[in-house]
Amino acid sequence: MAGIEPSLTLLPMKIVEPRVRPGSDADPCVSIEPSVLYFGTPVVLLSTENADGTANLAPMSSAWALGHVVVLGLGADGQTAHNLAARPELVINLPAPGQWQAVERLAPLTGRDPVPPTKHAGCRFEKDKFGAAGLSSLPSHTVRPPRVDGCPLQLEARAEHIRPDASGEFLIVEAHVTKVHADPRIVVPGTDHIDPAAWSPLIYNFRHYFGLGPELGHSYRSTTPREQTAAAPGVEEGTPA
Ligand SMILES: Cc1cc2nc3c(=O)[nH]c(=O)nc-3n(C[C@H](O)[C@H](O)[C@H](O)COP(=O)(O)O)c2cc1C
Repeated sequence: MAGIEPSLTLLPMKIVEPRVRPGSDADPCVSIEPSVLYFGTPVVLLSTENADGTANLAPMSSAWALGHVVVLGLGADGQTAHNLAARPELVINLPAPGQWQAVERLAPLTGRDPVPPTKHAGCRFEKDKFGAAGLSSLPSHTVRPPRVDGCPLQLEARAEHIRPDASGEFLIVEAHVTKVHADPRIVVPGTDHIDPAAWSPLIYNFRHYFGLGPELGHSYRSTTPREQTAAAPGVEEGTPA
């Protein structure tokens, strides 16, 4: 019927008109030069130990897990990098989406004094990062730096390998996790499984904070004991979400 769009869910596939720029071939993408490539990874808060025994706390999002090793990409000029080179224990705290403002309060701060000239404009020294963020600490079990109270997942870890990245600006840290703490509300009762429907990471998406959308499905390797999940309405295989 003219003027009435059929429902998307009735179509096998949404048809997207390719954006072909004059002079290019039939490539549906455009070439761009983004200033950052932060395509959406979970935010973590790293607690490390300063030389005087106090704790530093820094947000970062270049973190991912290989089994029980977490790989971190850290600015070489930061206090966290300095602390880990001298004292390799840390806690990788995972905040929930509702804690994004506490994370953002830490964004302009460094534990380095004086602030190195390589730090971004507006960056200032702060000794008490926990206080500045409005967060409180909990003692750890296997490492000296404290955990962040209120973060639903806290991974105690030890930096085993620290090496410069290809640019020389960052360090790549491989941290072996020694102990995992979880808010019981995100654990499947009576098991060691995190309930993926109860846990939601805080996602840093091109410098904007997001939570997760509804579940789409699960990997064939998932062993989490829970009810079969249905695909979110309107999200079917082959349908661009
Ligand atoms: C959400 C968020 C994500 C960040 N991700 C990273 C990151 O992956 N690696 C990094 O080196 N810095 C990252 N930063 C910047 C550091 O937090 C910043 O350099 C901070 O000053 C480091 O503190 P420190 O010098 O006390 O270690 C991020 C900041 C925010 C707010």
